[in-house]
Amino acid sequence: MTSIAVIGCGYVGAVSAACFAELGHTVHCIDTDPSRVALLQQGSSPIHEPGLEELLQRGIEAGRLTFAATYPDVFDARIVFIAVNTPEAQEGAADIRAVRDAVSTVAARLRTGSIIVNKSTVPIGTGDLVAGMAERAGCRSIAVVSNPEFLREGSAIRDFMEPDRVVLGSDDRDAMDRVAALYAPLNPVVQRVDIRTAEMIKYASNAFLATKISFINEIASICETLGADVEEVARGMGMDTRIGGQFLKAGLGWGGSCFPKDVKALAHMAAVHGAHPQLLRSVMDINHDQRLRAVQKVRQALGDLEGRHVTVLGAAFKANTDDLRNSPAIELANLLHLEGAHVTVVDPVVPAARLLALAPHATFALDAVEAAAGADAVVLATDWPEFRALPWHAIAAHMERALLVDTRNYLDPATMRAAGFEYRCMGRPGAEGAAASELIEA
Ligand code: UGA
Repeated sequence: MTSIAVIGCGYVGAVSAACFAELGHTVHCIDTDPSRVALLQQGSSPIHEPGLEELLQRGIEAGRLTFAATYPDVFDARIVFIAVNTPEAQEGAADIRAVRDAVSTVAARLRTGSIIVNKSTVPIGTGDLVAGMAERAGCRSIAVVSNPEFLREGSAIRDFMEPDRVVLGSDDRDAMDRVAALYAPLNPVVQRVDIRTAEMIKYASNAFLATKISFINEIASICETLGADVEEVARGMGMDTRIGGQFLKAGLGWGGSCFPKDVKALAHMAAVHGAHPQLLRSVMDINHDQRLRAVQKVRQALGDLEGRHVTVLGAAFKANTDDLRNSPAIELANLLHLEGAHVTVVDPVVPAARLLALAPHATFALDAVEAAAGADAVVLATDWPEFRALPWHAIAAHMERALLVDTRNYLDPATMRAAGFEYRCMGRPGAEGAAASELIEA
């Protein structure tokens, strides 16, 4: 088993480190945030990620996982992963300052023959830049490998442990083999390419998934106009193996820390280098409009929203995470407020303070039944499984007007109507259409 170092203990860093330790490697992690390091040293996860704390604790107890807020004088590990943030900068460009800082600090401390592996999502060409930095720092025989990460928040451990593929990019075959060996217990398909291609695979993958979602959202709007059911359309399309059924869920649009930043960064890179990324621009445009369409549905039912009470179910950008970055649910809550509504937001894991920092005019609630009492509308904005199990009859009975806008097409229309709701969703017809497709299915 190999000794490795991981720089940056955010989502990608913490999950990768815990998983590599689980695979039997010795992993030394460094993060410049001492409070995050203090949490991790105790086996506590700074993020809500199912299964992560168990892995952290096992790795720490086995002596295979350590955390520090400072760099060692010299790295024992010969393979050093960079997994720092590359947030959005001006004009949508990716800000790679954290990568530069990490590489310049790491380079001076590496032994000959070490490998710098980049896991952060970085603009195409960053690997070459890293190699140049290492060379200028006087590193000898250092290889640079790009190893993009494809894990999803909420299922990150499973995504790491059961990868569809491991992508490695470098001009150094031996270095790629040494990195591939770390993953050997997972027996993955390994794709070896040049470094720029590996960097592009990451952006192209995220941009394609975002495109799939925007596509189905556009189809949802057309379905609504023409009286078709987007859920069945997506199911029918998805059964064609050339299309595949994943990421065809119409709704409020995509959010989170990755898709918005990465699609923008790819479009920015393209434009800066003279290409015209018109598809990517439309993909972003459609996504933005989904939030507006959801608000329009509430307005269509209630009229002017001034003074209306609206309960938004969900704050996280998707279920099983407490991440609020670019959350469509928060954007929706803020748009409703802008139209004069009194907005209460319910989320099972997001702490009130973090929600209120982003939606300062909202009221936070933990109990959906209490939050919806007397409301004019409930809007489901995050597909938390908890929401499916709510006592919907009781909720409908205590609302001022039992309007339910399901922006994720997450609840069963017939059940919700039977519970007493005026139920609206995205891209599906009313009772007649639903009944018709049920008949066809039967
Ligand atoms: C995404 C990618 O799926 C990962 O492969 C990638 O590693 C990660 O970005 C990253 O670059 O770090 P993540 O942002 O965690 O992962 O979340 P997803 O599950 O991809 O969902 C993104 C957004 O799309 C969410 O807002 C979700 O609600 C929305 N979505 C997803 C839909 O609206 N419809 C769908 O069918 C699927």
